[in-house]
This record gives sequence, structure tokens and C-alpha cells, in this order.
Amino acid sequence: MYESIKGRVVIVTGGGQGIGRAYVLGLAGAGAKVVVAEIRPDTAEAVVAEVRSSGGDAIAVQTDVTSFSSTQNMAEATVNAYGRIDAIVNNAAIYYGLRKTPFTQLDEGEWDRVMAVNVKGIWNCARAVLPQMQQQGRGKIINIASTVAIAGVPLMLHYNASKGAVIALTRAMAKEMPILGSAEITVNCICPGLTWSEATQLQISGHEDKAALVVQQQALKRREQPEDLVGPMMFLVSDESNFISGHSLVVDGGFTVY
Ligand SMILES: NC(=O)c1ccc[n+]([C@@H]2O[C@H](COP(=O)([O-])OP(=O)(O)OC[C@H]3O[C@@H](n4cnc5c(N)ncnc54)[C@H](O)[C@@H]3O)[C@@H](O)[C@H]2O)c1
Repeated sequence: MYESIKGRVVIVTGGGQGIGRAYVLGLAGAGAKVVVAEIRPDTAEAVVAEVRSSGGDAIAVQTDVTSFSSTQNMAEATVNAYGRIDAIVNNAAIYYGLRKTPFTQLDEGEWDRVMAVNVKGIWNCARAVLPQMQQQGRGKIINIASTVAIAGVPLMLHYNASKGAVIALTRAMAKEMPILGSAEITVNCICPGLTWSEATQLQISGHEDKAALVVQQQALKRREQPEDLVGPMMFLVSDESNFISGHSLVVDGGFTVY
């Protein structure tokens, strides 16, 4: 499946844990060379060791997506190691550790951090990899949004707003590519539903009934797992999706039916 991924160079931001880790393992398993661009060197190195132990190719590059110079370093390190950048999966976000809070009581610093990582981080990564993709004449940018932007999930206003921004910037960035002379560079996003990552387990601890309610409203009656997102991401990285740009691919077991 997705033979074209073999040998491709793909950056996964926030690839040290949770869904990002599943993306890294899936891509490496399909023969891609993967760069784990993660703020936490310990988790990134652990995932890289996991990839190498099963014969795959990956490196870790410590990256803070909120800093443009750090994302430029990420792009440079990728080209130095592998010679090109075929795709980037903009997965890094602040989600782990967010507590459900009425918007009247949200901490202003937390609001700014969520926007800096979840929205500005994607802008930084996209503009950091673009020159290399332009030089190659092709490239794929895959942004990770969320179904919260469609469903409207209460008590996480900053997170909802940040993911709505990811859908909007994906559409605008896709349409801007031909203006920048880069019509062959596609930009798409994935909207995962409530997914059973470590971050979600922490998030819903003590509110398991609410998570069960989500499953009840899905067409597919089981919890979404990080691995459920790997195939859709690989499709957007592969040549099979070459004529798709500006799209939001909802992967939520038929919860939003969007
Ligand atoms: N888990 C879900 O239910 C769910 C649902 C919809 C969308 N998503 C999205 O999927 C993605 C992964 O979710 P997850 O559950 O694995 O979340 P997570 O919080 O476990 O993973 C986020 C990763 O990003 C890294 N990161 C944080 N700040 C960073 C920075 N400044 N620079 C680089 N890396 C940074 C973290 O260290 C972590 O490894 C996120 O974009 C999240 O918003 C998750």
C-alpha cells in the first residue's frame, strides 16, 4: 500500500508521543526516511530507536515550532541528512495537559501558548520547508486540525479556535501556492476525532462517561486509536493524493459526518 512513500523524506513535528509517534512508525514502516521534529529530545530519541530497531531510517531534530529559526534549523538538518524534504506532517500541538475550563476563566498565557504552537507553529514550519520544496518542484504539507473545529466542543475555547484556524490556513495556503509559483505543492489537513492517545486519556480521566458518549454517536462503535489516522496521513503523503489540495479529511468514525 502507498508504494510511492518508499524513500520519501518526511518530517513529523511532535512525533515523540501519541498520534505523532504512530505517524513516525507508520511512515518508517512504509520505507520513508523520517525526521522526528520534537521539542522533547527524550521522547524523540526513543521513537527513533524504535524505528531503527525494526530496520527503519529516522533521525531526531530537537525543534520548537513556535520559533522560526528553530524550524529553519529543522529544515536544514533534514536536507543535510537526507538531501530533500518531500512532506511535512504538522502534528505538534498543545493538547496534552489542557484542562476543561470555562472560557471566562481561561488563563491568558495558556491561550497565547496554544495559539503559538498550534497555529503559528504551522506557519513557521510551512515557511521553513517551502524553499526546499520549491527547489524540488513538489512537496506535500499535511496539517493536523481536529473535529473540535467542526463540532464545537465546550470548555476548550482556545484549542477549538486554534484548530479552526488550522482548517482556514490550510485552505488559504493551498490557494496561495500557485501565486508563489508552487502549484505542485499541496496543502491538506486531517481532522481526527477523539483519539485514544496518552493526552486524551489524561484529558478525560474522571470523565470516561463523556468519551463513551462520543463513541455512541459515532457510526463505528469503538474508540478511535492513533493507528486509525496513519492510513489517511499516508494517503496525503503519497502520490495517490496528488490532485487533492486545500482539503480537510475528517477521520472520526462517522462522528461529525462532515
Ligand atoms: N488525541 C486526540 O483526541 C486528538 C483529536 C484531534 C486532534 N488531535 C491532534 O493530533 C495531534 C496529536 O495529538 P496527541 O493526542 O498525540 O497529542 P500530544 O499532546 O500527546 O502530542 C503533541 C506532541 O507535540 C509536541 N510538542 C508540543 N509543543 C511543541 C513545540 N513547541 N514544538 C515541537 N513539538 C511540540 C509534544 O511534545 C508532543 O510530543 C495534535 O495536533 C492534536 O491537537 C488529537
